[in-house]
Amino acid sequence: MQVRVFKDAQAVAKAAAMIFAAQLAEKSDSVLGLATGSTPVETYRKMIELYNEGQMDFSKVKSYNLDEYVGLGPEHECSYRYFMQEQLFNHINIRPENTFVPSGVADNLDQVGLAYDEAVRAAGGVDLQLLGIGNNGHIGFNEPDDHFTSATHVVNLTESTIKANTRFFKSESEVPRQAISMGVGTIMSARKILLLALGEAKAQAVRDTVKGHITPRVPASVLQLHPNAIILLDEAAASKL
Ligand code: GLP
Repeated sequence: MQVRVFKDAQAVAKAAAMIFAAQLAEKSDSVLGLATGSTPVETYRKMIELYNEGQMDFSKVKSYNLDEYVGLGPEHECSYRYFMQEQLFNHINIRPENTFVPSGVADNLDQVGLAYDEAVRAAGGVDLQLLGIGNNGHIGFNEPDDHFTSATHVVNLTESTIKANTRFFKSESEVPRQAISMGVGTIMSARKILLLALGEAKAQAVRDTVKGHITPRVPASVLQLHPNAIILLDEAAASKL
């Protein structure tokens, strides 16, 4: 696990976007694993800038997002599909049919999970997976638990995640209690993983991830086992290392 510390969030975003640009320069038909949350927003903005400058071409790219809230359709402003359209897809030349976010509104979500992992495999696997991290060490929506869940599956969100994500909704009662998320196995099967963490609120989770035991109580700690995981931090997120 490689850890790089930058002065601030801007510098992290710039470095992250450059890693994506290098990935596409090396393999124009890369399969990207994408993430939501406030952390990657600036990285996506930089990627859009690079695209506008002719330095990134997404025409052959496929993308698979980590997760989606159960019960929120693509038109819901707080859904992760909506987020991806607004923050990235609408501003670059990725083909809409090549962008995938698990459905949170299908009848059989277990089936959605199985089909999602199968689709990732059929696409050749994820080349570069972007991750944020929850205050409690979650990745995607893999919450602290007594075991790791391998495949894409439905999760019950913890109180701490519901509270943390309330800022995107009108009130806490509107935050969905469940999500569908790539499993830890799905995430770990990516050839390269790039985790970003910003701000002091993430400092303890970052410490537990980098320096703690590998445990499903801190889902991101499993990244210690990945052969090609890079963690980009601002100084605040790195303050407990
Ligand atoms: C959500 C997402 C995660 C994300 C986390 C942190 O729970 N499912 O993928 O990493 O939020 O979000 P933020 O970047 O806003 O702190």
